[in-house]
Amino acid sequence: MMQTELDLFNPHDPLQPQWVGTQAVVLPGFALQQVQALLPVLRQIIAQAPLRHMFTPGGLKMAVGLTNCGALGWVSDRHGYRYSAVDPLSNQPWPALPEVLLGLANRAASLAGFSDFHADACLVNCYRPGNRLSLHQDRDERDFDQPIVSISLGLPAVFLLGGHARNAPTQRIGLRHGDVLVWGGEDRLRFHGVLPLKPGSHPLLGELRINLTLRKAG
Ligand code: SIN
Ligand code: FE2
Repeated sequence: MMQTELDLFNPHDPLQPQWVGTQAVVLPGFALQQVQALLPVLRQIIAQAPLRHMFTPGGLKMAVGLTNCGALGWVSDRHGYRYSAVDPLSNQPWPALPEVLLGLANRAASLAGFSDFHADACLVNCYRPGNRLSLHQDRDERDFDQPIVSISLGLPAVFLLGGHARNAPTQRIGLRHGDVLVWGGEDRLRFHGVLPLKPGSHPLLGELRINLTLRKAG
C-alpha cells in the first residue's frame, strides 16, 4: 500500500518501515546506532578524497559537494557521467568502503527484500542550506536488479520520489538524521531529487546534510 507523507511521521509508531513504493521503503532511524562509528570514518574519507563541486556535461557547476569511497566512484564532467576507479583529483583509488557502511547497507537492503547486496560504490553528497538536487534517474550502474541504499545524516530534507517519466507526479518523503531509504526492483529507475535544504543547524553536523548513496555499480 502507498503511504502518504503524514504516515511517515506517524507519532504512534515512528520506527516502523514505511513503504513508499512497491519496492521502495524508508527505514526510519535505521542508521542511528552506527552514527558514532560513521562520523570519524567519513571525516577520514573526506580528508583523503575532498568534497568537490563537479560540473554537469552541460557545463553547470553542481551545488552539492561530492566525493566517493569504494572500488568505484561516480564522477561527472563535460564528458558525461560515469564510474571511475580513481579519484580524478589525485589519480589515486578512492578511499575504501568501510565495513560499517557495507554491513549497514546490506542489512537495510535485506529488510527491503534485496538479499545479498554488496555495494562497491558509495557516493557522498554534502548539502548546505539552499542546495537542491534536481529530478534525475540513477542509470550509470551496470545492473538495475541491484537496489540503491541511501543514508541521511544531519539536517532533514524532503526527498522527491517521482515516476518513470520526468513529468510524473512526485511524492514528498521526509528524510531525517539516521533514516535509510532503499529502492530497487520496479522502483529502481524512478526519477528522484531533493528539495532545497531548509536553513538549520544539526547538533552533530551543523549546517549540513550528508547523504551516503550505496550502489553496486560495476
Ligand atoms: C541522490 O539521488 O544521488 C541523492 C539523494 C539524496 O541526497 O537523498
Ligand atoms: Fe540519485
